Amino acid sequence: MSYATFIDSWSVHYSRCIENQLDVVHVPFVHKTTIGAGNKTLVNGPVVVREGELLTFYVNNVVDDGKTSQLKATEITDYKNLFYLQFHYPNIWKNPISEKFQAFAAFVPVDDENTLIYLRNYQSFLKIPILKQIVNYVMKLTNIVILRQDKRIVITQLPKKSQVKMDERLIMGDKPIIEYRKHREELMKK
Ligand SMILES: [Fe+2]
Repeated sequence: MSYATFIDSWSVHYSRCIENQLDVVHVPFVHKTTIGAGNKTLVNGPVVVREGELLTFYVNNVVDDGKTSQLKATEITDYKNLFYLQFHYPNIWKNPISEKFQAFAAFVPVDDENTLIYLRNYQSFLKIPILKQIVNYVMKLTNIVILRQDKRIVITQLPKKSQVKMDERLIMGDKPIIEYRKHREELMKK
C-alpha cells in the first residue's frame, strides 16, 4: 500500500468537521463538480448501524425523478450490498472504496474552535515507482479540491460546536449525524 496525505486546518469545532463527513445529503449540492456529479438528490435511508464505537452508514442516493419518494431505512433490506462509509469514535472516518483503494481521515482537535484534518488515500493497484507517486499526488490534489468545497460551507456553520438539541431542522437523511451526536454525548458522560 502506498499513500498520499493532505493536512488542512479548519477554524471550527471538530464535531462540525466530523458531521460534514457523515452528511450524505450535501454531496450532490456541495460537490456538484466532483464526487457529487450526477444530481443524485434523492436520499434513500440511509441505513445506520452502530456496533460499539463503530458507526457504519449505507448510502443509496439516486436521481430524483419527481415521482418517487425516498425509502425509509427500514424499507432497505438489501443494504449490505450498498456503498458504505464508516466512522470510528472518537475521530476516524473511513471510505473503503475498494480493496485496493481507500480513503481515511483523522480529525484532530486543536481547541474548541480549531481542528486539523489529516486526509489520506491508500492504494495498492499501482506499484510501479514514480508512476505510483504521480498517481498518489493526483489523488492528493483531488482531495484538496473536494475538501475545499466542504470547508467554505462548514466554516460558516453556527454555533461552532454541535449538540444533540439545537435550533435546527434535521431530516431523515441526517440520521448518521444524529447517531453520531447521540453516542458522542453518551461517551462524554462516561
Ligand atoms: Fe463533503
